[in-house]
Amino acid sequence: MKKQWWHNKIAYEIYPKSFLDTNGDGIGDIKGITSKLDYLKELGADIVWICPIYASPMVDQGYDISDYYAINPCFGTMEDFDELLAEAKKRDMHILMDLVVNHCSDQHEWFKKAMQDPDGKYGKYFYIMDGKDGNPPNNWRAEFGGSCWDKVPGYDNKFYFHTFAKEQPDLNWENKEVREEIYKMVNWWLDKGISGFRIDAIINVKKDLTWASLPPDSADGTVSVFETNKRAHGIGEFLGELRDRCFIPHNAFTVGEVFNSTPEQLEEFIGENGFFSTMFEFEHCLTTYAGAHWCDNVPFDFKKWRDVVLNNQVFVNDLAFEANIIENHDQTRGVSYFIPEEDYSYESVTALAALMLMLKGIPFLYQGQEIGMRNCRFDSADRYEDISTLEQYKQALAKGHSVDAAMKVCCQYSRDNARTPMQWNGTENAGFTTGTPWFYMNPNYKEINVEKDRASEKSVFNFYKKLIALRKTPEYEDVFVEGNTKPVFTEEDHIFAYERVSKDGQKKVLVISNYQNSAYDLKLKSSFDEILLNNYHGLEVTNGVVSLKPYQTVVLK
Ligand code: GLC
Ligand code: CA
Repeated sequence: MKKQWWHNKIAYEIYPKSFLDTNGDGIGDIKGITSKLDYLKELGADIVWICPIYASPMVDQGYDISDYYAINPCFGTMEDFDELLAEAKKRDMHILMDLVVNHCSDQHEWFKKAMQDPDGKYGKYFYIMDGKDGNPPNNWRAEFGGSCWDKVPGYDNKFYFHTFAKEQPDLNWENKEVREEIYKMVNWWLDKGISGFRIDAIINVKKDLTWASLPPDSADGTVSVFETNKRAHGIGEFLGELRDRCFIPHNAFTVGEVFNSTPEQLEEFIGENGFFSTMFEFEHCLTTYAGAHWCDNVPFDFKKWRDVVLNNQVFVNDLAFEANIIENHDQTRGVSYFIPEEDYSYESVTALAALMLMLKGIPFLYQGQEIGMRNCRFDSADRYEDISTLEQYKQALAKGHSVDAAMKVCCQYSRDNARTPMQWNGTENAGFTTGTPWFYMNPNYKEINVEKDRASEKSVFNFYKKLIALRKTPEYEDVFVEGNTKPVFTEEDHIFAYERVSKDGQKKVLVISNYQNSAYDLKLKSSFDEILLNNYHGLEVTNGVVSLKPYQTVVLK
């Protein structure tokens, strides 16, 4: 694999609405991001991905864009954005925008014109089709519930297509004019000086053009639209064009949100000359998911998770450089997902951090992860803002679960867990805003906040800092950045361990985590020279046996 400038970098995702409010309207803003660049730099972040800040009615929190060339006034102005870019450049930091081009908003002028004249030029920007006697053309179910088809106003049997909410109509990539509009816009942003994009829902842009109904996966006779994407062929033509027309000429860094990809696709997508620089590894975040509904999910299983992570590392070793996460704005908090609640501690949270950051690939941290922010328990469903949570709640009730059980599922899986405002300090509203926050604060902010964590030596924040610094040590670049991953001790029930080995095999680092709340003795297979990182003081070793404390995690040379 050719060396790339971003291989040794650390990326950080910002959910702008909940990051930092500077004008007291209760909504995080661009100026808030700019004012925290030094903080991010101190942590060790180099690349900052900002979730959508374009003009939007915010039905899906900005993933419904009504004007790709404008900044949503709730986040500030284009001048604010230009200032952010300039300030980032000064600090040798890179800004990534979110590229949402599978769909736009129903308030985009293209869609408004399409609805006025479905057979005209803009009608062809979308997928508009005749139904069957007033019913949708097929049984595909949208990601946020209901049919993928909604009626064109004023017509009895004409429908438009949407993968997500009905306010997010899908753009017709089969239409060359649409693709040209997209490339123009992508190049406009790249010319402005951003370093690249995180690319939203990109696997969805190619549809199964037979539009055939499929065997249902739900009692109501519908099938998830994601199932139908698996039958779509030829996405490469679109993505190759996007790469050649936009990304290559700008030497852009791109990270794809790609679900459902097959092993063969991995090479095509992010191998040498792939469509994107990298893409997120999601499989390990989804080991508890068991179908379309959260209420069907299964309990978290440590070994299943560990094996998915390690098998994937082995699979990508010589093939690609993936993007690793433990959480993002669509997942619950990593701490709450990967650690049993009764085990929450400095040691368990830092164990998770080390396991993720020492993997091969580029780490993407999500705001608040660096202080171990946790899920937020809401006491009633109407407190949720996220459309997908409200739909899942409804589905759980429809499937016969009690209100309590449905709430429990939402507490566990809601995307809103990750969307509560950032906890900066212990003062009112955690220093996020001087006004009324747009969303609930996690009440634990007096315990868990940046100011407190940064001041204490033994803190999650300071551990992340050390971890990132270690990863970036030039002396270990051939191991942590370029080296491959070799799973070890996989026969153990509670040990998560792997070696990182330089390409020439000369340098080896061993990461071992005793991922449980009790002590454990582990016989090492070889000796070590040095402890590079440890979430405890000291490590007991007797005759090659290490006595690991609960969640003790070490990086050994
Ligand atoms: C992606 C985004 C998610 C959004 C969806 C529709 O999965 O990450 O937040 O709801 O696409 O745009
Ligand atoms: Ca604001």
